[in-house]
Order: sequence, then structure tokens, then C-alpha cells
Amino acid sequence: MLKLTWYSHACILVESPKARILVDPFLSDNPLAPVKADEVAADFVLVSHGHGDHLGDTVSIAKRTGATVISNFEIATWLQNQGLENVHPQHIGGGFDYPWGRVKLTIAHHGSALPDGSYGGNPCGFLLYLEGRKIYHACDTGLFYDMHLIGQEGIDLAILPIGDNFTMGPDDALRAVQLIAPKKVLPIHYNTFDVIAQDPLAWKSRVEGDTDTEVVILEPGQQIEL
Ligand code: NI
Ligand code: MN
Repeated sequence: MLKLTWYSHACILVESPKARILVDPFLSDNPLAPVKADEVAADFVLVSHGHGDHLGDTVSIAKRTGATVISNFEIATWLQNQGLENVHPQHIGGGFDYPWGRVKLTIAHHGSALPDGSYGGNPCGFLLYLEGRKIYHACDTGLFYDMHLIGQEGIDLAILPIGDNFTMGPDDALRAVQLIAPKKVLPIHYNTFDVIAQDPLAWKSRVEGDTDTEVVILEPGQQIEL
């Protein structure tokens, strides 16, 4: 069984009996974060791209917990230069089997500059295969037709941005659900800032009217079981 907690924005904690996997830990500067960076637990931290609202507190959390950070090669190298020892670089299209499950990096249409202006490579999304479940976390991206290929994996839960402005908005996120056809979808990356204000309940009605996918709406800090 898996427990999945939404810490608002793109930050997700996945807990399996074998590991705690934290994705895009943007907490300290996040007005909606329900936990502090110095109290969150993690065995692995996944970083989708270099922007501050995703890289977030990765360095301090990894230093405190000793968690292994998984990201693209460029960000993994940058993190080593910040003093992190446990990093595992991957890149888009590549998967790796960790003791708790498999991580594959997917494409994402976005940017990835690091906070100091360093080149952060290409941004990515994540496919997680663990405990018999398949989770697709799109992270920051616009709509892309290859989401159909990701859907062919048979996705139990898709985690999709709906905020608009920086990523897909509600209309394209609905089209993403149609391409992926996941069992469930969790909307993220909205209401953190005024510029990405959205009504998730309105989106839920549209998606559940037009598709067979169940929309899960969480409050920051709320948890679901998969
Ligand atoms: Ni971004
Ligand atoms: Mn973002």
C-alpha cells in the first residue's frame, strides 16, 4: 500500500513500506506549505527542474536526512557542488530500479535554470513504479501529445499542473487527462500564487463529465492511499 501526501504546489511525499520519496520539496518560501523543511522526512528526493519552486529546500533536506537525490545529470552535478554526496543522475527516457521501485524520467516542456543561473539541463517529469502502482508526476510542463505514450503504461494516478501561466491550465490539463486516461488524477501547481489561481472543483466537474478518470482534490497536507 502507498500513502501519498500533497504538500501543495508540486511537492508530493510518497510513502511505501520500503521508502519515503519526496518530490520537488518547495517548502520554506511556499505560502501554502503545511510542513517546514526541517521537519519533513525523506529517503529519496526527486527534483524535476532547477526553478526555485521545485528545487526548493532540496539541499537542506538532503543534508539533514542523508536522502539520495535523483535528478537530471546537470542538476545532480550542481547538487554535488553544493556539498551533497548522495546523488543519482538519470536522464529523460532512462529508468533505474531502486530497492523500492523504478523511476523513469519523462519529457517536460519548460525551463530549468538553477537559482544561481547555472544551466539545469532539460526539465523532466517522473514515472514511478512501486508496490504494483504506476504514478505519473508531470511536474511543470505544457501539454504534449506524447502523454498518450505515457498513458499506454497504464497509469493509476496522474499528478498534473492546472495553474496556467507557467504550465498547463485547466483546458490543456483536461486534454492531458484524455491523452493519459489515468484511473485517478490529482491537480497541482495552482493557488500558490495569485497568478496561478484556479478552481479545482470546477475542473473536477469538467474532467469527470468528459472522461472516466476520478479527480482527487486534496488540501495541502492531506493524504490519499493508493
Ligand atoms: Ni518551473
Ligand atoms: Mn513551477
